[in-house]
Amino acid sequence: MLIFLNGEFLPRSEAKVSVDDRGFVFGDGVYEVIRAVGGRLFTADEHLERMEGGMRALGIQPSEETQRAALLGIARRLLRENGLLDGEATVYVQVTRGAAPRLHQFPPAATRPTVYLSTAPFLPPVEIRGVGAAAITTPDLRWSRCDLKTVNLLPNVLAKQLAVEAGATEAILMRDGVVTEGASTSVFGAMDGRIRTHPASNYILPGITRGVVMELAAALGHRVVQRPLLVEEIRRVDELFITGTTTDVLPIVRLDGRPVGDGRPGPVTLGLQEALAERMRTAALAKPG
Ligand code: PDD
Repeated sequence: MLIFLNGEFLPRSEAKVSVDDRGFVFGDGVYEVIRAVGGRLFTADEHLERMEGGMRALGIQPSEETQRAALLGIARRLLRENGLLDGEATVYVQVTRGAAPRLHQFPPAATRPTVYLSTAPFLPPVEIRGVGAAAITTPDLRWSRCDLKTVNLLPNVLAKQLAVEAGATEAILMRDGVVTEGASTSVFGAMDGRIRTHPASNYILPGITRGVVMELAAALGHRVVQRPLLVEEIRRVDELFITGTTTDVLPIVRLDGRPVGDGRPGPVTLGLQEALAERMRTAALAKPG
């Protein structure tokens, strides 16, 4: 597999990042995961716009390589050269503040950001999608800029590990009495004839899939309310589901060992799952690149 690192396309095994890289030393960088369907990137502009916003917020200097057109060109070349134009794949993009002697403050302005892209074949979790998955709840231990997709993922890593140890797929995070999001997904609940999700704020990542799903839900005639589920409410929702680039729409049918609703994927979730799948199929056929 070929990857891209700082201006070069090279075999993954030959790619080397400096031990002084601020991504390695401080977790000082941002990333994106973009889905490719039949070689076409799905919602790539939205992902790269979010990354540009993250770089701006963190004061990571853009370079020629971090320009959107450059990143899209690199991603497409990797998909092509890695034989990923058929079926599904993911593109990983990471930009860090670059390599410099270890001082907490920003390095000299001339320090080039580290730019890394890789691709991988993606097998959609088709079986689990139909039957639903289990989740646990756990405190949200993250900082207060969760809207930035940084490579500082330790609280997410710890939460996901707790979920896996409990035999669950996702950890749903709770802060100050409300549900924020999942360790690597956005969270939605259906109750009282509405779909509820945490509003876009500094306490959640503005998920790209979340945005698409909210739009699809409105088009299907659902009422979507951006108001967080309360910790008490998540125990009595009719349906619960999570969304994400590599998750699509996944029903959560067990929470902390107890059934959600009747313990089976519900009609709202399954309808949105199908609508998203259809949107991805159409995008793959319609849009160039
Ligand atoms: N995770 N919330 C968090 C904390 C996430 O890390 C992600 C994505 C999402 C869903 O966002 P999107 O729909 O834009 O993928 C929500 C990626 C896929 C990851 O870390 O692998």
